[in-house]
Amino acid sequence: MPTFAITGGAGFIGSNLAWRLSTLGTVLVADDLSSGHAANLDGIDASFLEMDVSTHVFGSELEQVARIFHLAASIDGGRNRGTRRGSAERSRW
Ligand SMILES: NC(=O)c1ccc[n+]([C@@H]2O[C@H](COP(=O)([O-])OP(=O)(O)OC[C@H]3O[C@@H](n4cnc5c(N)ncnc54)[C@H](O)[C@@H]3O)[C@@H](O)[C@H]2O)c1
Repeated sequence: MPTFAITGGAGFIGSNLAWRLSTLGTVLVADDLSSGHAANLDGIDASFLEMDVSTHVFGSELEQVARIFHLAASIDGGRNRGTRRGSAERSRW
């Protein structure tokens, strides 16, 4: 079974995608819960990593990942983090 990684997976689109992909393979969700909610993943067979993907440097966690869906985003464009660039733009994934 393939492994899928979803950044922003505790958000609206990410959690719905996690639900769908969990029927197709293993799901790994990374979210800092800045606007999303862990409860959005209730009942979904997914592993959850609470992290800021704009600062975390990934290593072996991604070795088995077949596809990455990058949905982590700040509605304010990242301005509350001292930059006008969005978290997706700054991400290291
Ligand atoms: N919802 C829509 O109708 C819609 C339409 C078009 C495009 N989009 C885009 O799709 C993406 C997801 O939208 P959504 O509605 O699911 O948003 P959302 O706010 O519900 O989800 C975004 C998730 O990203 C997480 N996040 C933010 N910064 C992070 C970081 N640095 N590290 C880890 N996690 C982080 C938040 O906690 C949240 O769970 C966004 O880029 C949005 O612009 C959404």
